[in-house]
Amino acid sequence: MAAVFLEEEKIFKLDTRNTTYVIAVVDDEQFLGHVYYGKKLKEVHLDGLLRIHENPFVPSRNNRDRVSFLDSFPMEYPAHGLGDYRESCINIRTEKGNVGLALSYVSHKITEGKDGLEGLPASFGKAGECETLKILCEDKVTGLQVILQYGIFDEADVITRSVKVVNTGKEDLYLTKVYSACLDMDNKDFEAISLHGSWARERQIETVPVSHGKYSVESIRGESSHQDHPFLALKTKNADQENGEVYAMHFVYSGNFKAQVQSDQFDQVRMTMGIHPEDFTWKLKEGESFQAPETVLVYSAQGLGQMTRIFHDFYRNHLIRSKYKNQKRPILINNWEATYFDFDTDKLIAIAKQASALGIEMLVMDDGWFGNRCDDNRALGDWFVNEEKLKGGLKYLVDEVNKLGMKFGIWFEPEMISPDSDLYRAHPDYAIAIPGREPSLCRNQYVLDLTRKEVRDYAYECVAKILRSANIEYVKWDMNRQLSDIGSLELPADQMGELYHRYVLAVYEMQERMMTEFPHLLLENCSGGGARFDPGMLYYSPQIWCSDDTDAIERLKIQEGTALIYPLSTMGAHVSDCPNHTVGRVTPFETRGYVALAGTFGYELDVTKIPESDREQIPAQVAMYHKYNDLVREGDYYRIASYAENHYFDCYGVVSKDKKEALYTYVQVLNRPNYHSRRIYLKGLAAEKYYAIEGEEGTWSGEQLMNAGLLVQNPFGDFKGKLIHLTEV
Ligand code: GLA
Repeated sequence: MAAVFLEEEKIFKLDTRNTTYVIAVVDDEQFLGHVYYGKKLKEVHLDGLLRIHENPFVPSRNNRDRVSFLDSFPMEYPAHGLGDYRESCINIRTEKGNVGLALSYVSHKITEGKDGLEGLPASFGKAGECETLKILCEDKVTGLQVILQYGIFDEADVITRSVKVVNTGKEDLYLTKVYSACLDMDNKDFEAISLHGSWARERQIETVPVSHGKYSVESIRGESSHQDHPFLALKTKNADQENGEVYAMHFVYSGNFKAQVQSDQFDQVRMTMGIHPEDFTWKLKEGESFQAPETVLVYSAQGLGQMTRIFHDFYRNHLIRSKYKNQKRPILINNWEATYFDFDTDKLIAIAKQASALGIEMLVMDDGWFGNRCDDNRALGDWFVNEEKLKGGLKYLVDEVNKLGMKFGIWFEPEMISPDSDLYRAHPDYAIAIPGREPSLCRNQYVLDLTRKEVRDYAYECVAKILRSANIEYVKWDMNRQLSDIGSLELPADQMGELYHRYVLAVYEMQERMMTEFPHLLLENCSGGGARFDPGMLYYSPQIWCSDDTDAIERLKIQEGTALIYPLSTMGAHVSDCPNHTVGRVTPFETRGYVALAGTFGYELDVTKIPESDREQIPAQVAMYHKYNDLVREGDYYRIASYAENHYFDCYGVVSKDKKEALYTYVQVLNRPNYHSRRIYLKGLAAEKYYAIEGEEGTWSGEQLMNAGLLVQNPFGDFKGKLIHLTEV
């Protein structure tokens, strides 16, 4: 059993392949205490683990100092208001305006396997792969029940947490805060790692020391955001790719979030993650419940690299559902950077003809095919085909593309409405707005109030009608602005605080509906590049557009941060034209191919217009993709050098699970004058195996390649890359 309750000591012991997680029921009031999370322990004895036999003791022994107890005891799920002054995970307001909760253990249940969560994305697993533990706690005064839900994934080495709250009292209650996970521990000289960014600069890795006070990353933008990422890890000082301890939390959610670490007066740390409490309340009438989203917890005693590989396998095996998850994706060509809004049927067919002759497998028609959408100022919501651009209609275009042996994909932005649209003229009330206030524009558009069923159904039907009308095999679902002016025409005053979360639920519902009606569709989520690249969206789409920045060099940093937690199979990456449209940089076409190879791979350029010397490289790049994609998609990822850290070169690799094959990508960003070759230490190989390096004479032992390294000659020039492909001999 991965999860057991040891009656005598009243402790829960949850074991995964390499970790143990321990919770104790303490004192007469049945407090739930967090005892341990870390390296696997065969046995645990509470003695010497919890500071309950020293001042201030437990309340049954020293109620005089109850607040001191509450404010220092490592709580499994801390509640607000009664004396624990650290960050709380949950709070309520009663009809009379009272706050505060005291949660006591009542009972628990352990079952085989793990189900999803209703209406929310969540990990899943069969009996034998994982177990579920549910611990029921109760606040006697209000009758609020809190069910702490744990998924214990043995082989995957992961623990998931979420929380369900039920109002069993007679009075209406307002949930004003509900986080999904908490970890209380002593500070082991931790540093916090987070991913921050902006449009075109998503998910840059940042490390800061954990000092007294609070450090948080958060979004109140209604999406997980470009700026912060719903990920936070604590690592022991000096932990690196191979060494040191790492505690990581990642939120399976696509809306407002808050991830925080707090270091208190006793040098204990409390790490929390959940829905951001700003503008959040949820009304619970008698018998009603609220399900909070899931958090994935990973502990690694072997540095960040091990953490990364645990996340990658976990998402590939226990979160992504698409039929494409273990399949090579068609190599696509997207017309966004090729044409922007200036295209018609002839232009698209010309691109498709040239592309198919070069081996590209799918044409994706991006923004601009509907209504009066001649630029990004109008027409969102008018999802009917613009037949002036697409002469002969959509089906004609799709059929012509299919005749070339290519699949066809299409772009939508179903969550939006332009003020200059037929939809807005007919239904100005469809936009999210605070009644009486003109909402703030962003990219000249508003957000649809998808929390209203009527609006949601309208938006869904717009997409579905188009998908039913032709042989469309791929959808890029975009979302190009954050939410603001949070107000609703439908929600009563005491439920206005539900809008943000209801919005996220509505998006999930629409995508679930779409994947149920069109199960063979390849869905790629997108949000102005990577503003909604999160595990929540991965539950619906096996890939997400990583960033609007397609410059190969900027992508090294963006993809390094993304790959810290996400499998390469999920990262939308394309070869685009130069000078790059975002940064104006010129990089070799070859290098652009190597960098895009680390993701889903495709093109975003006008293949009829690029230089012949670039175009003629495409068949070789296509062959490269077909040769290596199985390895890239399914292999174990190793980070060898980081350009973001060393400012000269980048190097990462993927190794097959059986360690018979490996591919390392080396990109020299800046050449260094009068500098000799670089020695790189390969990672992930089998020490005892012998390998051949493609294009080189001889064989090398894994042991030598990993410990003594391999010399890589500096290419002459900047932005030059190379692949190092190893096969076992
Ligand atoms: C967003 C996407 C781009 C493109 C444009 C179209 O910015 O990230 O890839 O689809 O929208 O407007």
